[in-house]
Amino acid sequence: MRQNILIIEDDKNTKEGLKKILEAAKYDIAAFEKGEDALDYLKSNKVDIILSDMKMPGMSGIEVLKKSQEISPSTLMIILTAYGTVENAVEAMKLGAYDYLTKPLNLEKLSIVIQRALSYRKLKEDYESLKKEISQRYSFENIIGQSKKMKQVFETISQVAQTRATVLIHGESGTGKELIAKAIHQRSNRKDKNFIAVQCSTLSKGVIESELFGHEKGAFTGATESRQGRFELANGGTLFLDEISEIPPSVQVKLLRVLEERQFERVGGTKTIKVDTRIIAATNQDLEKLIKENKFREDLYWRLNVVKIEVPPLRERRDDIPLLVHSFIKESSKANKKKIKGISSKALMLLQNHDWRGNVRELKNAIESMVVLSNKEIIGVEEISSYVKKENEIDGTINIKGTMHLDEIEKIVINKALKKAGGNKSKAAEILGISRKTLHRKLS
Ligand SMILES: Nc1ncnc2c1ncn2[C@@H]1O[C@H](COP(=O)(O)OP(=O)(O)OP(=O)(O)O)[C@@H](O)[C@H]1O
Ligand SMILES: [Mg+2]
Repeated sequence: MRQNILIIEDDKNTKEGLKKILEAAKYDIAAFEKGEDALDYLKSNKVDIILSDMKMPGMSGIEVLKKSQEISPSTLMIILTAYGTVENAVEAMKLGAYDYLTKPLNLEKLSIVIQRALSYRKLKEDYESLKKEISQRYSFENIIGQSKKMKQVFETISQVAQTRATVLIHGESGTGKELIAKAIHQRSNRKDKNFIAVQCSTLSKGVIESELFGHEKGAFTGATESRQGRFELANGGTLFLDEISEIPPSVQVKLLRVLEERQFERVGGTKTIKVDTRIIAATNQDLEKLIKENKFREDLYWRLNVVKIEVPPLRERRDDIPLLVHSFIKESSKANKKKIKGISSKALMLLQNHDWRGNVRELKNAIESMVVLSNKEIIGVEEISSYVKKENEIDGTINIKGTMHLDEIEKIVINKALKKAGGNKSKAAEILGISRKTLHRKLS
């Protein structure tokens, strides 16, 4: 794979000279005279190394450095500085520049510094991916989960990521559909190109078509300029159509054609535009039901449903809850500058037994509010919101009649626990506060 170098040099001759030399050395080069333009380029292109002049009219080399680190932290910057202004270069090194070269440039030195920077970058990448691998034992991209159901989801993501297959993600609100879409993009060879998300429900009927497909100047009142739509912006990358059921029928037809032919015209335009955009759609609706009600096109459904990912609600994968809780406590404790270390096992059990109708999002918000409100190191039962506790209580009531044998009561309690644990005996034993062995004995 060719390496990409971005040159920023206000002196046109130096800029062109550098460009020629490095192109001859088989690097892909983009060159700009202004920092602002170079940063714009960096926003949507993969760049391995930036070679930047220090003193320029407009943005200085230092400013470019700071901004470039925000835009693309893994890109390395080599500073070019005039002899005698080395102090500035040293300051840049402190801020994270990889190296500096003094002008007039020694070409041999330039080539060595570039090669060394590239191998440093590779080493860093390898190390990062190793670190990621370790932390990924219980998470996949940013998706936390170790339940069997989530492992299946991870498996599907791995299988489809590298293909261009359209993916339909179905699941209740807050189950992590958007995270999954991002993970697919991140694991694909499109990851250096745009991931564009469109919330179909927030766009009004009138604008959705031009948002998706763009428009030509004069296409409608107010269209003073022609504009690219999201399909074009996501060219080479991934377009995430969230809440796909909200797309109006007229736009569904156009969408169908893009899925079939990968081409379309802008609103008010006649030129056919071809794109290589991968599409991932998500919904919490039952699309098959909407088809029966004539609210969603069946042909579009089948085009979207090439690979389907069913995201299970949190209450069907309760064994993910402890991991999620720990990770959210860590995250929000850090974000809110709190020193909370964990949660008591009783409190965790209450959270694990709750049904979380809002799924992971609701759990995450609940943890955040507990972390913010708590002054202790360990979150206890007192911090758990009352309605979570209530649900546990209601579920825990049993009717004991005076004539009942202790054995009978035990049977009811055990059955309740088993039900709550979704048939998982270890978990039921945990809920009852007895060992798995004891539970087995009682069951037999
Ligand atoms: N498995 C998970 N691990 C870590 N965080 C998660 C997980 N699932 C969801 N989240 C978090 O929960 C929140 C909701 O996730 P996301 O927006 O992906 O859900 P969604 O299915 O798209 O919801 P909606 O249908 O309401 O749009 C986000 O903050 C996300 O980071
Ligand atoms: Mg969403």
